[in-house]
Amino acid sequence: MKDREGTDLDRRGFLRFLAGGFLALWAPAAGFVAASFLNASGTKHRPGERRLQCGTFSTLAVGEARLVRHGAEPIFVVRLAASKVMAVSAICTHVRCVLRWNRDNGTFLCPCHDGAFDKTGNVLSGPPKRPLRQYPAEVRADEIIVHT
Ligand code: FES
Repeated sequence: MKDREGTDLDRRGFLRFLAGGFLALWAPAAGFVAASFLNASGTKHRPGERRLQCGTFSTLAVGEARLVRHGAEPIFVVRLAASKVMAVSAICTHVRCVLRWNRDNGTFLCPCHDGAFDKTGNVLSGPPKRPLRQYPAEVRADEIIVHT
């Protein structure tokens, strides 16, 4: 009986040791995987921030812009260079008319009072005093993602 109890205790101790070792290795790995999943893009997200899918990057030529509908505030995504994209509001900062893209000279034009903005949203001419609102944009797996 004593031998049997001794054997049981040894077996129990060994199993506890194995379980403890497994948990010691598993817990940090599970924490790392969970943290990676929650922050998959590596981008810090503000509370309430939304990700807007804005179409494929490869179909937007360098120097071109694409209008993306987004509720009351449509957005233009602009491909500035081979690997650089940015996003600006498509709403004029004067009295909120929706802008048009002028591909001939790469500017945004306002049909209401002839305001004009460059492709990064800076005022070029007309009554607007403020530049266009910019949004963080990135490319993930050939999809343009804008953070609104
Ligand atoms: S609303 Fe755009 S210039 Fe006036």
